[in-house]
Amino acid sequence: MNIAISSDHGGNTLRKEIGSLLEELGHQVTDFGPQTKDSVDYPDYAKPVCEGVAGGEFEAGILICGTGIGMSIAANKYKGIRCALVHDVFSAKMTKCHNNSNIIAMGERVIGAGLAREIVTTWLASEFEGGRHENRIKKIAEIEASN
Ligand code: RB5
Repeated sequence: MNIAISSDHGGNTLRKEIGSLLEELGHQVTDFGPQTKDSVDYPDYAKPVCEGVAGGEFEAGILICGTGIGMSIAANKYKGIRCALVHDVFSAKMTKCHNNSNIIAMGERVIGAGLAREIVTTWLASEFEGGRHENRIKKIAEIEASN
């Protein structure tokens, strides 16, 4: 898959770990940084990933900050983005199966690299179930269109 990743300063180390994992798994990775440890604002780094996923340039995105919360809030402001904040393997599977999430967010200050790797691997290996969930996603898109 063609996957975009980014973080803020609070997610720098985990982002690099996840970038390596994605390459190990054979994915094509675009890393939007940041490339230094300087303090940055997470909405600026969410932007290229969200625009790229919403526009179809990337099939999936992964956003990392200290908690994952800021990144997930920012990501869900973009039309067409369904970003799930995920810190356990069960949720990683379910958010693909039921929500067809196209981005996940994680917090480097919340979980370790081992669990984060399992989360990413599980999410990418899971498939949207469609059916009744398709209608629910359509209703989310209708909310988005009405705002
Ligand atoms: C940065 O200190 C921190 O606020 C950020 O990484 C993130 O946790 C925000 O939600």
